[in-house]
Amino acid sequence: MLGLIGLGRMGRGIAINLLNHNYELNLYNRTKEKLNEFKGKANLFEKIEEFVKNTDIILIMVSDEKAVKSILSYIPKDKIIIDFSTLHPIVVEEIKKEYKNYVASPVFAGPEDIKEGKGKIIFGESEEFFKKNNLDFINYLGKVYFVNDSVKASAIKLASNFIHGVFYILSLEFNTFIKEFEIEKEIFEIQGDRPIIDMARRYGKYYGNDVEISFTTELMAKDIEYARISAHHKNIPFFLTSTAREVYEIAKRYGFSNKDWRETWRIFKRI
Ligand SMILES: NC(=O)c1ccc[n+]([C@@H]2O[C@H](COP(=O)([O-])OP(=O)(O)OC[C@H]3O[C@@H](n4cnc5c(N)ncnc54)[C@H](OP(=O)(O)O)[C@@H]3O)[C@@H](O)[C@H]2O)c1
Repeated sequence: MLGLIGLGRMGRGIAINLLNHNYELNLYNRTKEKLNEFKGKANLFEKIEEFVKNTDIILIMVSDEKAVKSILSYIPKDKIIIDFSTLHPIVVEEIKKEYKNYVASPVFAGPEDIKEGKGKIIFGESEEFFKKNNLDFINYLGKVYFVNDSVKASAIKLASNFIHGVFYILSLEFNTFIKEFEIEKEIFEIQGDRPIIDMARRYGKYYGNDVEISFTTELMAKDIEYARISAHHKNIPFFLTSTAREVYEIAKRYGFSNKDWRETWRIFKRI
């Protein structure tokens, strides 16, 4: 029996996708109200102990390390656990020592992509493990990349997120600068064919606009912090990422925690 823990933005998308593909699904979420939407469509559990007892393959999609650890404390060590959450490699390594069938399987996708099966799944185990345990349903969520190493899978996800998160801050400084000096037209005309300028321009499309919530500032701050901890663990200098972390932390203090991370343009425009 297949089951999913976590009905936040991403977990909800996974649940809808698998139910649309006619899978029977057990569901659990800490906040019970989020189960309501699935009444009559899935098996709903109010107690995590009951959910675990009735589920053979457990999927997890929750916020962070703290959430995953609290959930794991209810799960027997031999269960097959596919964790789609974004964690950091050190924690994944720790978990793997105890839970032999735990697979870190973070995803490149937003809530809509995962619902429509357009994700990229960074699967931290082998194709052989995938086939042996009948995990074919994951193909419905998106293209599966077999990395065969849960620690590497989590590092791949973090690398992608921190470069986006850090570059976004740089692009906001750039976009604010060219707007305040009223040189937008000229800079793109004269230097617009450079990849770095083009990237800054692409991110500039969020500047001045409301951004529909997909990935929160809270989660971006978390991923950047996880990247920073992981880098320090390997003794990698991490100057800019550490600074970007400060920006997202400030954004959280200004009330952006539960807004899309790209809304941080408001701090640069000082509104
Ligand atoms: N959103 C994206 O575009 C995106 C893309 C790729 C990867 N991710 C990653 O996917 C994961 C989930 O993201 P999301 O956007 O779905 O987040 P979200 O909407 O904030 O949902 C978070 C989920 O985690 C649960 N949770 C949080 N703390 C918990 C705890 N201590 N114990 C039990 N459950 C807890 C929440 O339960 P409650 O409902 O009770 O609060 C909720 O189900 C994160 O690791 C994120 O980095 C997100």
